[in-house]
Amino acid sequence: MNLLQEKQVAAFNALKYIKTGMVVGIGTGSTAEIFVAALGERIKNERLEIIGVPTSNHIRNFCLRHNVPVTENSSPREMDLCVDGADEFDPDFRLIKGGGGALLREKITAQAAKKLIIITDSSKKKDLLGKFPLPVEVFPHCVDSVLAKLTLIYQAYNDNSAPATPLTLRRNQTGEAFVTDFGNFIVDMPLKKITDPEKLSRKLHSIAGVAEHGLFLTEADCILCGSDTYRKTSFY
Ligand code: 5RP
Repeated sequence: MNLLQEKQVAAFNALKYIKTGMVVGIGTGSTAEIFVAALGERIKNERLEIIGVPTSNHIRNFCLRHNVPVTENSSPREMDLCVDGADEFDPDFRLIKGGGGALLREKITAQAAKKLIIITDSSKKKDLLGKFPLPVEVFPHCVDSVLAKLTLIYQAYNDNSAPATPLTLRRNQTGEAFVTDFGNFIVDMPLKKITDPEKLSRKLHSIAGVAEHGLFLTEADCILCGSDTYRKTSFY
């Protein structure tokens, strides 16, 4: 199986958990889009009734194009399930997310859902998180002071020496700063090996001006990776 086929198998396997009447958080990214397209087919063919809670404006529009109804309330108090992708996962169900820039909305949705199912491929499976640059969402009016604090963390991960490339804001294809659905900026931190993600999470949360970071340390209940299934003992 190639990586695209692995994503497709994972997305199709996630459909098994969707039952009529559910409120379902819908992730952002290419794997989530495969899931949405397949979900739309099931809704059409089986009269499945669900309400989707999109994690980005982009996936909201994608849902509507694929016959998946969505709520206008972007943050319901509770959801039955959330299905989302990931940029990396480790053996302890810890994730890096935010490659698509939706990390804050994805984390809000994941935490409001009773269960989070991750759909992904084997290239995302890591013993240690960090090869994928960690996205950090930053309030725009304090970006310089936050960049200074993030640089200190970055340097500590770089043997306390000045890294070859300074941390900068994520840019879109036209060179402008990428702006999230919440109007924030993103800094991608290439830390390479995150040996203690919980400690790093606490550090990042202690910086005033950080809106959220892409470490999802407790949220995932089940990871569908190609045809492999990893589930926490508490998962169904
Ligand atoms: C978006 C995300 C995505 O879930 C992550 O980037 C994985 O994307 P893909 O399914 O395209 O590999 O976190 O913010």
